[in-house]
Amino acid sequence: MTGPTTPAALVTGGAGGLGRAFARRLAARGYGVVIADRDADGAAEVATEVGGTPVTADVSRPEQTVAAVRAALDAYGRLDVVALNAGIGSGLAATDPLDLEAYRRVVGVNQDAVVYGVDAALPHLRGAGGRIVVTASLAGLVPMPADPLYSLTKTAVVGYVRALGQPLADLGVTITALCPGFADTAILGPLREPLAGMGMPLMTPDEVGDAFLAVLDGGRPGEAWFVQPGRDPEPYGFRGVPGPRGPAAGAGVPA
Ligand SMILES: NC(=O)c1ccc[n+]([C@@H]2O[C@H](COP(=O)([O-])OP(=O)(O)OC[C@H]3O[C@@H](n4cnc5c(N)ncnc54)[C@H](O)[C@@H]3O)[C@@H](O)[C@H]2O)c1
Repeated sequence: MTGPTTPAALVTGGAGGLGRAFARRLAARGYGVVIADRDADGAAEVATEVGGTPVTADVSRPEQTVAAVRAALDAYGRLDVVALNAGIGSGLAATDPLDLEAYRRVVGVNQDAVVYGVDAALPHLRGAGGRIVVTASLAGLVPMPADPLYSLTKTAVVGYVRALGQPLADLGVTITALCPGFADTAILGPLREPLAGMGMPLMTPDEVGDAFLAVLDGGRPGEAWFVQPGRDPEPYGFRGVPGPRGPAAGAGVPA
């Protein structure tokens, strides 16, 4: 039974490995969960499993992100948690010639969709203790030479979350980034075998799902939490940038 007293969550990329783990955990906590994915069958399957609501949406299109938010409001009458999680690899290696379509695609899903998701959800989250968790990546904290365009987008969203931390907190909304290392999901594609061959430990989606809950419960505005095999997830400690020298020292230095 759902209604305005049931908390509601939206998970983009909810049909994928990590999104499904997030959706299961949110449903287990009593959330009504909207599963938004461009994969209609996958979204329907996860929604059936968690008793949620499927939405077919390409979140790199702003109007389809708005429709996904609207679906949560229509189904549950409110919105409390938004997991902006849809993502893809670029498919381009570092020295490949630039494929403009592939470039626009990876920026569209990994970066634009986060901007669209925050914008669409914010009016419904403000003042109500809402939370936004953006699935970035360890590739947003350290370079990922195997896919520099992926690293570009994930670094961008980490910067976006950090910059939005305080302004959204002022509205009563907490935004955080989740930065997992490699996890065993479809996104790894052809990278999976070489990674396994190198002895790289791959996390299970459930491990990342537990980290998602840790960030949801304990993440503070603008934090980016790393998630690594065998370690407890924690906020990454960014090294401060030295301020200016001279008489104007202390003025105009971003926090
Ligand atoms: N698996 C990893 O190793 C890993 C590590 C760090 C970060 N991440 C990030 O985690 C997130 C989830 O990825 P995953 O590992 O579950 O991969 P996945 O491929 O299993 O899931 C990604 C999901 O996003 C959906 N999707 C892609 N483009 C979309 C679009 N335009 N609109 C709507 N849905 C779209 C896909 O259909 C899929 O269901 C991504 O942002 C990814 O970059 C993954």
